[in-house]
Parts: sequence; C-alpha cells; structure tokens
Amino acid sequence: IETLGWECVLEKLSLHLCFQVDKYLYHMRLSDENLMDVSKRFRREMDKGLGRDTNPTAAVKMLPTFVRSTPDGTETGDFLALDLGGTNFRVLLVRVSSNGKQTVEMENQIYAIPENIMRGSGTELFNHIAECLANFLEKLGIKDKKLPLGFTFSFPCQQTKLDESILVCWTKGFKASGVEGRDVVGLLRKAIKNRGDFDIDIVAVINDTVGTMMTCGYDDHHCEIGLIIGTGTNACYMEEMRHLELVDGDEGRMCVNMEWGAFGDDGALDDIRTEFDREIDAGSLNPGKQLFEKMISGMYMGELVRLILVKMAKDGLLFQGHTTPDLLTTGHFQTSFISAIENNKSGLVSAEQILRGLGLDPSPEDCVATQRVCQIVSTRAAHLCAASLAAVLRQIRDNKATDRLRTTVGVDGSVYKNHPQFARRLNKMVRLLVPDCDVRFLRSEDGSGKGAAMVTAVAYRLAKQHAE
Ligand code: GLC
Repeated sequence: IETLGWECVLEKLSLHLCFQVDKYLYHMRLSDENLMDVSKRFRREMDKGLGRDTNPTAAVKMLPTFVRSTPDGTETGDFLALDLGGTNFRVLLVRVSSNGKQTVEMENQIYAIPENIMRGSGTELFNHIAECLANFLEKLGIKDKKLPLGFTFSFPCQQTKLDESILVCWTKGFKASGVEGRDVVGLLRKAIKNRGDFDIDIVAVINDTVGTMMTCGYDDHHCEIGLIIGTGTNACYMEEMRHLELVDGDEGRMCVNMEWGAFGDDGALDDIRTEFDREIDAGSLNPGKQLFEKMISGMYMGELVRLILVKMAKDGLLFQGHTTPDLLTTGHFQTSFISAIENNKSGLVSAEQILRGLGLDPSPEDCVATQRVCQIVSTRAAHLCAASLAAVLRQIRDNKATDRLRTTVGVDGSVYKNHPQFARRLNKMVRLLVPDCDVRFLRSEDGSGKGAAMVTAVAYRLAKQHAE
C-alpha cells in the first residue's frame, strides 16, 4: 500500500469493487420508491396506534406523554434529573435562573450500570439508581434538600399522568426482571424510601425524544418533533388532542412518544428485512421486538456490518476467505468503527487498522470493500429514518391544513452526532420524500438531561400556579 499509494490503488479498484459489494448487498439498498412506500406504511401505522380500537393490536404504540406545554421562560429553581437508557446513566443538577433571560447551568455525573444490574432484578436496578443519586447529593452537599426530580427513562411507557409511568417492555440492552408492567416512579420511590437517607420529589417521567424536543423547543418555537438516533431510535411529535383517541379531551395538542423502533414487529417490514436483520434479531435480548430499531440504531449497526463481513469472508469474497476469532465474536465490530471507516479522509487507513485489530490481514481491496459495506448499512439506516420522519411531517402538515409546512426537528443520539455522513443523508432523503416541507434539523444540547429538568420546571410552575 505504501509503495503504490492509496490513490492509485483506489482509482483502479474502487469502482469495480464497490459494484461487486453493491450486487452482493442488493437487498440492503432501498430505492426512493421503496422508501416512499415504507413512509406510507409508517403513516398507516401511526393512524393505527392513535385509534382507540386499533391501538391494542398496533405495533407502533403512539404513547401519550402528558406533556402539553413547552417552557415559557419564567421557570426558575434547582432541579434534579436522572437519565437512564442512553449510552450512559447520569445524574444531574440543573439550575434554571432568570434575570431577564433564562439561563441553565448543569452539574452532572456519569455512573456505570454493570451488565449484571441491567439484566438482574428490578429491585437491584432501582437500588443502584438510588445509591448513585445518594452519592451525587452527598458530593454536592445537598442531601438534606428535597428537590424536584425529572426522570428521563428512555423506554416505552404507558402514562396516565406526568409522574406515573408503566414500563411496557424493556428495549435495547436492558432486561431487569419484575419491572415490565410496573410504575417506575413507584419503584424508584420505594428504593429511596428503603434507604431512608434522603428524600426527593419525583415530578415527571419523560422519554429522551421528549427531552430533546423540549430543549430544542426552547431555542426554536417551531420545534414540534424530537428525534433520537443513538443506542436506540425513536421520535415524538406534537399531535392534535382530537386525534389522540386514547386521551380524553379534544382541545390543544399533546406530545406523543411514537416508539417507532417497534415498526415492523407485526410483519409490516418483512419484505425489506434481510437475512442479516433476521440474524441480529434472533441473537438479541428481545427477539421479534423492535425490528425497525434493529435495522437502524447504534446498538445493532456495527453488528450488522460484522455479520455481512463474516458471510462475505466465508463466501471467499473478503480476506482471502479467512475469518478470525475476533471477527466471529458478537459485538467485536463496534458501531463507532463505521464512523471511522466512513470518514472521507482517513476512512481507508482506519479500515486497515480496525481490520488488523480484529486479527485480519486485509488487502487494499478488503479495505475498500469493507468501507462500502459500512456505507450501505449506514445509508440504509439514515434512509429508513427519513422515511418514517417524512410520514410524521406529512401528518403535521395535514393537521395544520397548510400546503407548505415550516418546522423544526430536535435531534440527538450518538449515531446522528458522531457518524460523518448520517445527518446529511437523512436530511437529503427527507427533503426528497417531502419536498413541500421546510425542515430545520437542530442538534439538541443534552436533551435527555436538560429536557427532564425543563419538563419538571414547567410542571412545577403549573402546579404552583394551580395552588395559588
Ligand atoms: C428505544 C426506546 C425508546 C427510546 C429510544 C432512543 O427505542 O424504546 O423509548 O426513545 O430507544 O433512546
């Protein structure tokens, strides 16, 4: 490689090789028509989830969040926030002050949640959370204050009010027993009470998508969609109350946590799922569940690439037919590798290093082919997100009965933020699928943490107004 020079090698081989990989992964490359079709299917799923009679059998649950208002800028105070369900578990202290202009300051601490606790008993999990909270309060010297707390709990939950949240099912890497079907606020309160060394006021439980929408909504009043593409993927948006048949009342709007990761769980995507998608699902903690999420999010994307590389090697198309124990091990091809390999400048050098790290001895052709595999997998992910997002945009446009919708999507998540091409591909495909919408994508600054505190702050203000 050194003597030939990358550029020369690339020129000769790239086109031909990429063509071969494209042919091999034909089923992973979705045309614009395919995507438009997926988008239409998703819109039907949304309707199904919103309808009272159709909801029980709907895959996309469209969960009411009881978040109706966004911050108005008059909220102040100290709030605690917990963020569980993303890359890290965090405890935060958020100070919202307002002298003319509202400002937000934060202290936060990351705590590890060992795998045995993520997948142990629910009691252990909540005891661990309470212990981290105690440690944080101690560190900041505020253990004696009873502060209001917002809990970002990024899993599907059935809510009937802001401070009650029943876990429908675990997703992503969690599987603690005895929590599904229970109110997570109750479980957390119990764990804190059992310790007896501090007290807090749990005011709100929110999904990370909602937190993302809320923090972006603060800067941009057009923001009415929250999108996460990280460990998992999901979105929320502001829906008209009259369409939310599961909640009483027809006035105004309410934020709906779509749980779009479950799209396809009823077979609706079977025609576009590939053998690799089926393999990922079969080896996962929740087979048959979150099938759309498994085609897209960070928890699975690296593994998809790994499965493809293994099959290509076994078919003699890569690494001279060789595999290594590392390449054959689940989880050894991290999603962050895809970001490195797709970097415009250093991508092929990274590909070589990463493949060597897996014990392989890649040729320049192997590196180019691996890069192409990464491109195909991550492009499909971005385009599938675009298809479902386009359906949400059309729904909002129809709700407003306008020809041209101007709106903002608040976005967060490790895949969206760290992958060099993901955001651009997603944005471009959304524009192609809904040309009559002017969409602004706004990166959220710590939506999960700040968002929970903002929802809590709003709820607190409304409660105070109520009492007065
Ligand atoms: C999973 C969760 C969902 C969350 C998403 C992003 O899909 O079920 O609640 O919003 O991951 O973290």
